[in-house]
Amino acid sequence: MEEFSEKLILPDITDLHRIEVYEKNGGYSALRKALRMKPEEVVDEVKKSNLRGRGGACFPTGFKWTFMPKESDKPKYLCANGDESEPGTFKDRQIFEFNPHLFIEGALIAAYAMGIAVVYTYVRGEYAKWIDLLQRAVDDAYRKGYIGDKILGSAFSTEFTVHKGAGAYICGEESALMNSLEGERGYPRVKPPFPAQNGLWGCPTTINNIETLANVPHIISRGWEWFSKIGDSKQPGTILFGISGHVKKPGVYELPTGTLLTDIIHKHAGGVPGNKKIKAVIPGGSSTKWIRGENIEGVRMDADSLKAAGSSIGTGGIIVMDEDTDLVAVITRIAHFYHHESCGQCTPCREGCGWLEKILKRFSAGEATEGDLDLLLDVANNIEGNTICALGDAAAWPVQSFVGLFRDELERRVKKTPAPPAYVPPPHLVTSRS
Ligand SMILES: Cc1cc2nc3c(=O)[nH]c(=O)nc-3n(C[C@H](O)[C@H](O)[C@H](O)COP(=O)(O)O)c2cc1C
Repeated sequence: MEEFSEKLILPDITDLHRIEVYEKNGGYSALRKALRMKPEEVVDEVKKSNLRGRGGACFPTGFKWTFMPKESDKPKYLCANGDESEPGTFKDRQIFEFNPHLFIEGALIAAYAMGIAVVYTYVRGEYAKWIDLLQRAVDDAYRKGYIGDKILGSAFSTEFTVHKGAGAYICGEESALMNSLEGERGYPRVKPPFPAQNGLWGCPTTINNIETLANVPHIISRGWEWFSKIGDSKQPGTILFGISGHVKKPGVYELPTGTLLTDIIHKHAGGVPGNKKIKAVIPGGSSTKWIRGENIEGVRMDADSLKAAGSSIGTGGIIVMDEDTDLVAVITRIAHFYHHESCGQCTPCREGCGWLEKILKRFSAGEATEGDLDLLLDVANNIEGNTICALGDAAAWPVQSFVGLFRDELERRVKKTPAPPAYVPPPHLVTSRS
């Protein structure tokens, strides 16, 4: 793998969030270039770049764009997903704060490529500060003619709306997000039909993560070949890795895909305080499967390597836990989160997530019985794959991996029922034979 140290999404440029600074550094030139290309050429460029979504599922972005009908008598929509509610994930807000125009430019190019006239950016409501920052950037882009009618003198027009969510993890799931945007309850929809056929208000819609779209201007201005050589060839580019937990310098680090997990922990995030041993790592946000500390050596942060390590890259939110961590307390807290966030639409998730939390609480309190271990796994297995959306899987995976990797931690918490006292017959029953 070639060494690549450039920061594409969060470069060290002071005041890059200001539109004039962004323009001075080449900002919006990719949009100008895209507007001179045919829309299908733009889609093709992104397809060939091999860019894969940064929202968790790693879906190929250009390929997703081809699902949008070229001709449609209905309006088409782009939903930029900035819900960012997965515990351990805090990277899209960095884009809103430090380089919002890169995302806006990427979204505009996407809109042009797919013939979209309205872009919605859905941001979690708790991100009040970042919503303001993004809105300011959008207003500046309108003022300069990058958004609105006949953009930069072309025939292309599009509107841009920032929409505030109301604090629900489920609304990051693409179909729940669309229901929420429509003013409905944030329930995921059954697929098919997929959003490209029947999305927002029944119209063709594409949903992309904020970081995904922020990659697009670079692909257009520097070409798919250049992009496809950065990092891991199957999932090229840089990723904003958010690292938290027991590291000296938690934060967001932009690094090429395929970077060693141990390098991110030790070289970039400064290692573990007190040089303690690492007991466990969650590599891609709370929904991804855990890795035991002794198994992180050699694991690279890309989709294939993490799959081989029994996990997934998710949103690149790395959580490090040192040797003193009460892992049962952590998995119990995670189960509480999914139970709380389950929308309740599907029975396996609504009931199962409650059971996962309840059983794990028994382990935490030292009140679990031998049978609870199998019961825990059984409940998790019955959630996975049996729900409309992947929130159920997101709740099951960490628990399944925890039971597989840290069974000993759970076994230690099983209630030790004292052995029943030995039977001593009362004296009147004691015969000479006994
Ligand atoms: C419960 C749940 C929550 C999700 N939350 C987010 C989120 O906050 N941001 C996001 O981009 N994708 C989230 N996703 C994934 C989206 O459904 C969708 O795959 C993604 O936005 C597509 O963008 P991409 O192709 O650019 O990755 C979530 C999925 C599920 C099942």
